[in-house]
Parts: sequence; structure tokens; C-alpha cells
Amino acid sequence: MTERIVLAYSGGLDTSVAIGWIGEATGAEVIAVAVDVGQGGESLETIRQRALGCGAVEAYVADASDEFANEYCVPTLKANALYQGHYPLVSAISRPVIVKHLVKAAREFGATTVAHGCTGKGNDQVRFEVGIQTLGPDLKCIAPVRDLALTRDKAIAFAEEKGLPIETTKKNPYSIDQNVWGRAVETGYLEDIWNAPTKDIYDYTATPEFPPAPDEVTISFEAGVPVAIDGIKVTPLQAIKELNRRAGAQGVGRIDVVEDRLVGIKSREIYEAPGAMALITAHKHLEDITVEREQARFKATVGQRWAELVYDGQWFSPLKRSLDAFIEDTQKYVSGDIRMTLHGGQAIVNGRRSDTSLYDFSLATYDTGDTFDQSQAKGFIELWGMSAKVASGRDIRVAGQ
Ligand code: ARG
Repeated sequence: MTERIVLAYSGGLDTSVAIGWIGEATGAEVIAVAVDVGQGGESLETIRQRALGCGAVEAYVADASDEFANEYCVPTLKANALYQGHYPLVSAISRPVIVKHLVKAAREFGATTVAHGCTGKGNDQVRFEVGIQTLGPDLKCIAPVRDLALTRDKAIAFAEEKGLPIETTKKNPYSIDQNVWGRAVETGYLEDIWNAPTKDIYDYTATPEFPPAPDEVTISFEAGVPVAIDGIKVTPLQAIKELNRRAGAQGVGRIDVVEDRLVGIKSREIYEAPGAMALITAHKHLEDITVEREQARFKATVGQRWAELVYDGQWFSPLKRSLDAFIEDTQKYVSGDIRMTLHGGQAIVNGRRSDTSLYDFSLATYDTGDTFDQSQAKGFIELWGMSAKVASGRDIRVAGQ
């Protein structure tokens, strides 16, 4: 029986050529799998037809947009996950959901191998392959760009020679990956890290220098999950989309960073994640009033580690799963409303309310109604500083000897 290979298919030039390229190099039949993670653009049916036109024996499309929002974006939000303090893991969280569907398709169509279009220099090859090893340990992986020398020039020549139904003339100097959680743009002119991004790079956000009138929005959460916007019930997917639109119009969520890739390279990336950044900001502010101090401090460390694991392709790892359990436990009381103003590239919180708040007005107030006993503070400070005071006494004594 002819061997079958499942290919993660985007509809673009590289993966379209990869269908025939893999076929010629291996003699296997190729099944193209396109996964909808809210990337927009062409319809999945158009993409499916193109895959068939390029020689795929089957083309399978999976609508994973709600699944992606509920099971991948929401946990990222609960973790307030920002890799290196900046990057909301846009591409990193899409790989595991794509992997799930690739493995499922491999089972359905009797494939032995999974293929993806990543190069050998990035994080995404690691995320795909570690994910596949975990969910389908018997499956093999190949990456035609990396393993079968499928360069850009060869891809264009191949497409033209075979008359594939794909445009080869459109020159986009950037490498772009996008989904409902955000958009990532790299390479080309951006590789000189002194070059500021030009306006044409952006798609999810308008230039914040010329914002429309401020937009005030109220986001309601239940146990860490966004459930309503301005009082109207929403699913997580709807919440992200609505905030992509509204925060995007105000230029919120543009990120320009040089980040540490897992493969050891520092690389420049431009992100835009208006919905994600507005939601993370709101969620963090709600945690500020609903999560107890020590739990909150520890959670910040956990969230950072969670982001590193997910960035590094460890979505399905035991440690990531254990951290999920901790994070989930902290979300029990993260319910309530956050009001914020979207304007001029910023999402600024200016109101919060919650039935499960730990904010106690009578403890906080400097006005009448104060129940905080200030006389207790003196003794508290005495004991709190005791250990450092004793050490400092020793330092002076030793220095004087
Ligand atoms: N650097 C990011 C990451 O590793 C995004 C990579 C996405 N690819 C792109 N073509 N911009 O998660």
C-alpha cells in the first residue's frame, strides 16, 4: 500500500508546492489538513480546493476556532502569559491545536507521517514535532523546507513548471503567522533591528497616532473567563474578536521585540494582538482585587514559567499540566467587571467591581469609617525588620574588627 503523509496546509505557496514536492521525494500520497484558528483570509473551502488542485489525494479542513479560543487562548489569558514580558504566545498556542487535528487526520486517513512547512531555524518546528511525538508517538515527521531542500526559489520554479493553481508573483517580503489571538510578522527589512516597522506591516491595528474618540468598554469575567462585553453575553471567541475590532481601531496591542528563540537565536518580531492585550490587561486588574496577595505573587512566577514552557513547545508536558492546575485553582474568585478606556494605543483600566473582591473599603479608607488599627503597625514593623536589623548589626561589627 502506498504510504500516506498528512501535511499541515496553510494555502500559501510553500505548503502548496510541498504537496507535490513531498510526493516526488517520497512516493507517498499527501493529505492536506487546514485548521481554522481564526486566521481570517480565504475561505477554508477555497483552500481545500487549492490543495486538491495541487495534487493532494484528500484535503481536510477543521474548524477549530472555538476550540482554539476556549482551550488555548483562555488558559493563556488565565496565566496572563507574556513570554519575556511582552509576547502573548500567538503562534506558540496555535501549534498544539493544529497538532491535535493533524494527528486525528493521520489516524482517519491511515497516514504514517506528519509534515509541516517550518524552516529549521524557528520555534514552530519544535512545537509541531514535540506535539506530534507526544500525541502520536508512532508517527514520523518531515519538514520539506528543512529536510527536502524546498527553498523559496525552487518553490516558485516548481509551481510554475507544474502550473499549480497558486500565485507565484505576489512578493511579500515578510513571514506572517496569524490567528484570532494575534499576528506575528518577521524577516525582510525588520531584520535590521534599528529599522522601525513601516505602516504596511500592520493589519489588526490602526495607527495609534490618529485614534478615533476614546472607546470605553466593560468586560465581565467569571472564574477568569470573559463572559460579557458591555453587558452582552459572549463566548471567548466572540470576546476576542470584538476586542480585536475595538482595541485594534485604537492601535492597542502593537509589540516590537527581539526575543530569545528556543534554538538559540535572538530574533526580531512585530506582533499585534489588540484583543489579547486588552483582555490580559483587564484580567490582571480583576485578579488584583480578587486574588490574595501571596497567591498573586506566586502566580506571577507560575505564569512566567508557563509562558516559557508553552513558547518552548511543551504544551503537552507534565509540568505545564501541573501549572495549569495551580492557575485554575487561582481563578475561582476571578469574577466581576472591569471598565477600561481604549485610546491612543493604550487600554487603561479605570473601574473594577466584584462580588468576590478582597478590596475592603473600611480597611483602605483614610476618611471616616476606617477600621484599620494603626497602633498595630508599629510592633509589626519592629518584628518585620528584625532579621535584617540583626544582620546589619553583625555587618557593622565585622567591618569594625
Ligand atoms: N516568534 C514567534 C514564535 O516563535 C512567532 C513565529 C511566527 N512566525 C512568523 N512567521 N512570524 O512564537
